[in-house]
Amino acid sequence: MPKGKFITLEGGEGVGKTTNLAFIKDYLEQHKITVVVTREPGGTPLAEKLRQLLLDKNSEAISDKAELLLIFAARAQHIKHVIEPALARGDWVLCDRFTDATYAYQGGGRNMRVSTITWLENLVQGNLKPDLTLLFDAPVELGLERARTRSAFDRFESEKISFFEQVRRAYLLQAELYPERIKVIKANLPLLEVQSTLIHAIGTFLR
Ligand code: TMP
Repeated sequence: MPKGKFITLEGGEGVGKTTNLAFIKDYLEQHKITVVVTREPGGTPLAEKLRQLLLDKNSEAISDKAELLLIFAARAQHIKHVIEPALARGDWVLCDRFTDATYAYQGGGRNMRVSTITWLENLVQGNLKPDLTLLFDAPVELGLERARTRSAFDRFESEKISFFEQVRRAYLLQAELYPERIKVIKANLPLLEVQSTLIHAIGTFLR
């Protein structure tokens, strides 16, 4: 039985996950919690290699099925070598994206079947689910503008606006399906407001 808490951060491109992740880490450490910060796809040497392949926009065309399987291959590795050991030690895991991203990007964006994703989720994760998911939501154009001024577009960021609209809708649907676990955070509010919402959401687990 895991002792630590598993918190995931989700959202479209450029919604401020990185800034907020650093804030949550500091906040938890002030409460004497050991935090493991990680990300998907990635988090282990092999999974980071798979991430490079997935984000490389100059690679050969990657089929939707290959993309889905590479993401779950990276996830299997990440769970076994990073997430499960950390939770077993009693550390908290803060993960930048997890399986809700697969429902949003591969399910919503690429129109892959939800039942296929769920099948792979069960295979790879067993009973492992995040304790809390913070979904940062903002209008698509706003986030993309931010993401694209940061660095050159990767393979996902090069998609059309309609792709990201589908991603956003699929994320919000996940939040409707799992309201106990997924907390939607309006990412375009002032930073202090966002941060006080985060403290409130995490506070439940600190008590
Ligand atoms: P990041 O740059 O925000 O860390 O995310 C990398 C990209 O990978 C992002 O565009 C979303 C995509 N992605 C998926 O398509 N499916 C997934 O399951 C995950 C975890 C990420």
